[in-house]
Amino acid sequence: MEPFKLPDTFLLGTATASLQIEGGDRNNSWFRWCEQGHVKEGHCAVACDHWNRVEEDTTLMKSLNHHTYRLSIEWSRIEPEKGRFDPTAMAHYRREIEGLTEAGIVPLVTLHHFSNPLWLEDAGAWINPEVVGIFERYTAYVVEALGDLVADWVTINEPNVYAAFGYLLGNWPPGKTNLSDCLKVARNMALAHINSYRKIHEMRAGMGKTDTMVGVANHLRLFESKNGYLHEKWLAALVSHLFEGMFVTAMAEGRLTLPLGSGYPLGKGRYVDFMGINYYSREMISFTSDPGMLFAKMETRAGAPVNDLGWEIYPEGLYLFCRKYWDRYGVPIYITENGTCDNRDAFRARYIYDHLYQVKRLIDEGVDVRRYYHWTFTDNFEWEAGMAAKFGIVELNYETQERKVRPSGLFFADVCRDRGVTEEMIASYLQ
Ligand code: GCO
Repeated sequence: MEPFKLPDTFLLGTATASLQIEGGDRNNSWFRWCEQGHVKEGHCAVACDHWNRVEEDTTLMKSLNHHTYRLSIEWSRIEPEKGRFDPTAMAHYRREIEGLTEAGIVPLVTLHHFSNPLWLEDAGAWINPEVVGIFERYTAYVVEALGDLVADWVTINEPNVYAAFGYLLGNWPPGKTNLSDCLKVARNMALAHINSYRKIHEMRAGMGKTDTMVGVANHLRLFESKNGYLHEKWLAALVSHLFEGMFVTAMAEGRLTLPLGSGYPLGKGRYVDFMGINYYSREMISFTSDPGMLFAKMETRAGAPVNDLGWEIYPEGLYLFCRKYWDRYGVPIYITENGTCDNRDAFRARYIYDHLYQVKRLIDEGVDVRRYYHWTFTDNFEWEAGMAAKFGIVELNYETQERKVRPSGLFFADVCRDRGVTEEMIASYLQ
């Protein structure tokens, strides 16, 4: 291990999502999913009680030297009934963002992070083509309220994960298992992103702002052939196209590729000002006889280092994705999520070091990586795993809601402070 330094303009911080931390809200698709007993442990109606602890959490973030923070807005709070907006909920987020700004923390705001208002869920959610216009109206309401304070936006978080888990694999709400629905969702999300991208730019330009940056947080998982056979490599490339390529192309260029569709339904363009990359792991691909999985079997590489959920720890993958999309689009890269489930905090500091080392390598090669958001701040509601999977640099006691900074959190705070890793940090945190 060697020390390294990131550029003085590089921003580091953590990422969260409203549903995973706030608690209190009962008007969303995940509340119902929890009530139906689909979640392993804990409840999103409790989560980290962040809704009532915004100031405490902002102060803690500041003490951990965050330069930036990625948060999301809970749509069901802002538009509790179709077409009825709640200025009180909006004012809450405005205060939160003012608090961050006063603390010197640059906000990156996500408009959709997996959860839907119940009225939308009951109207077919993202299968319903009406969602495109409805999402644009919601975007406009939020930008009107926050546009003077927020320059950086993620329209939609991980459209591929939302579409695949909710509509194909059925393990997330609305629990559907239908390929044609899954493709409809993917198309509607691409259209909604493009409209929202245009809306944010138009509205902020109207406010006299010239620094608007809008993107998507893309979940990129590396798929590689298990045995290196040519036909297996083709299969891995097909899986990558279906889970990654077709989504990125639709969102970033407005181009639909098969099986999503064809052509440019909203015109050819560049609909991302930065490439948002959520990177966690890699899967090895081989053939199986199961046509339902497109004859592709996914597994963790034998003997690989893994986290507590069994995901391979493979920092090189972050390098490969940043390189690929920098070469393709040439827009700045924000690592909108990177992190690991490590319930005992045994390897998180090393995980952070190894991934940031790849960032440093990319920057040295001229790749314009500008931000790194660690997933996540406190342990939080990890979807179907509930409160059982711990991704936080801050430990959360779910019963008392007490927050306690983990050693990896202290390490990350030092990395933020120095924008790099020193010999001393290696000696105290990594050996
Ligand atoms: C996702 C989300 C986060 C997760 C994180 C850890 O990737 O599913 O954006 O909400 O909590 O990725 O699994």
